[in-house]
Amino acid sequence: MMNKTTAILLSVLSLVLAGCDKADPVASGTDATTGASIPAEENKDSGGKAGDGKTLIVFFSRAGENWQVGTVERGNTAIMVDYMKEITGADVFEIVPESSYPVSYNETLTVATNEKNGKVRPKFKGKVENIEQYDNVFIGGPIWWGEPPMILHTFCEAYPALKDKTIIPFGTHGGSGVGSYKSMLQQYYPEAKYLESLGISGASVRDAGSKTQVQEWIKELGLEKK
Ligand SMILES: Cc1cc2nc3c(=O)[nH]c(=O)nc-3n(C[C@H](O)[C@H](O)[C@H](O)COP(=O)(O)O)c2cc1C
Repeated sequence: MMNKTTAILLSVLSLVLAGCDKADPVASGTDATTGASIPAEENKDSGGKAGDGKTLIVFFSRAGENWQVGTVERGNTAIMVDYMKEITGADVFEIVPESSYPVSYNETLTVATNEKNGKVRPKFKGKVENIEQYDNVFIGGPIWWGEPPMILHTFCEAYPALKDKTIIPFGTHGGSGVGSYKSMLQQYYPEAKYLESLGISGASVRDAGSKTQVQEWIKELGLEKK
């Protein structure tokens, strides 16, 4: 008999597979929240190099039990950010929820479903000091139910000043890719310049090859520590 965990894992897997369509940003895409089509041209990463100004990395990540990695003390995206910080020397702002998510994966699935369905804006701790000082801003996290978690919406609503920055989406996922980060961010910052994003599988983020991937990506962006 199929137990509850298996049923939930299967439902996430089907969502992952469904998300694969959404994750191909080149041909066409779908707006993460409204379901509206995004024209192919708009949905393309602009590529190119970042400017010489200051860089900030903003991220959300959840430690605890997760898809394919067991119970971890540091979330998958946090590991990716460790590489990014080492390579860029950038400042980092972690979006820490006021009310933490459960350690249990299954319970988190339920909380995330309720937040998404209710268009909830979970509160986060602290604030970014003088966000105006940054020119380049990485924004990332995991994929939850095919999209960035709702707390990323809370962050974007709190920082409209990012509208004219250079934004680099990134994150970790279980197979869906991170294309939905750019479509979500474009809702808040349609005029921003977007550089090439990077999504890494959460299950392989701790492998040496993932650090190399991050290194190559940051080199392409021109954001290696001077
Ligand atoms: C509530 C929840 C929903 C998820 N939904 C998806 C999904 O739709 N597609 C996917 O590829 N991965 C999904 N995952 C897997 C995470 O995106 C992946 O494990 C990610 O690396 C977690 O990053 P973190 O440890 O930084 O939070 C989900 C994980 C959770 C907890």
